[in-house]
Amino acid sequence: MSLFEHHMLKEIMEQPAVLAALVERSKGLLEGDGGGLFSGEGASCERILFLACGTSYHASLAGKWMIEALAGLPCQVEYAHEYRMSARLPLEHCLAVGLSQSGETRDSLEAMQKAREAGARTLAICNVENSTATRLAHAAFLLGAGPEKAIASTKVFAAQFAAVFLLALHLGVVRGRLPREWLEKHLQAFAALPDKMRQVLEEGGFVQEMALALREAGHLLVIGKGPAYPIALEGALKLKETAYLHAEGFAGGEFRHGPMALVEPRIPSLMLMPSLPQEGFELMKGTLGEIRRSGGPLWVLTQKPLEPGEGMRVHTLPEADLFLSPLLFVAPLQLLAYRLACGRGLNVDSPRALCKAVTSDPQGSL
Ligand code: AGP
Repeated sequence: MSLFEHHMLKEIMEQPAVLAALVERSKGLLEGDGGGLFSGEGASCERILFLACGTSYHASLAGKWMIEALAGLPCQVEYAHEYRMSARLPLEHCLAVGLSQSGETRDSLEAMQKAREAGARTLAICNVENSTATRLAHAAFLLGAGPEKAIASTKVFAAQFAAVFLLALHLGVVRGRLPREWLEKHLQAFAALPDKMRQVLEEGGFVQEMALALREAGHLLVIGKGPAYPIALEGALKLKETAYLHAEGFAGGEFRHGPMALVEPRIPSLMLMPSLPQEGFELMKGTLGEIRRSGGPLWVLTQKPLEPGEGMRVHTLPEADLFLSPLLFVAPLQLLAYRLACGRGLNVDSPRALCKAVTSDPQGSL
């Protein structure tokens, strides 16, 4: 099979088009009724609860960050499988959002059902039309990313990320928290995103170099702060599931509370440094300095200029709205996972022991 026949690469490269389609739909938010994007959902709720697994969970974490900042609503994100088994607490005045590519993930469906029975209003955000999740929920938002065939989710993550961004804007508007000029500003930034994503996908040199350097690596520490934290988790998941590389994602501030002890000359790290407000960026620079002093090989993706230094490779990404920047960081990580998996001769589209939708519970017998 030639490289271009791999669904994963094709789907990574489709991301600018997937985003462009959502940009078109986002114009509806400027209409009085929200253009039917999320109807009136969330207008009177007091909190948001995301229920999801895997990649969809990471997009939900991004959603929490955006909804709290743009709509001023408290937001909780739960792994659907953990929520299924947790204490049953009442969920009045809560909008429970089930985020799922397939809409068929057993844990997510059970969790949504439980939230509904506990009194929550439910919204399914899915890529598959008429999936069980869309029928189970009170309302649904379809991502429209087209079929995703590779088991590792890439273009649907981009669509989910964009959808929760639009949900955050919608909630900001219907709750009177987001003035029109800010809505327009965020939508303009969103409209510029597909071209920036295309640009990032075309700059393959850094990724290629990193994939070569990591060919024999057994571990990678991926560190991101604020909006880049969910991307550190998502990038690490892509590397695990497609390249079978033990990669772990960490929150920037958490790294010094233990994981720093892992850093030594055989353990490489990758830092994701979006254009955070100055204080956050300086904190990340501090962590970066500590990693360098520990002698670990270091790779950095940054949006603000950073001097390259010994033992450290730096690649600069285009600037974007802080809420949307994470999507520019995820693209190189997806490509890295893909290149590394190909370099290791692995079946990138169908990794071992995984399936596209986890529709049943594990069997109990040994
Ligand atoms: C994504 O790359 C994974 N294969 C997996 O984590 C997936 O996101 C998870 O199983 C949830 O699936 P869903 O979005 O279809 O519910």
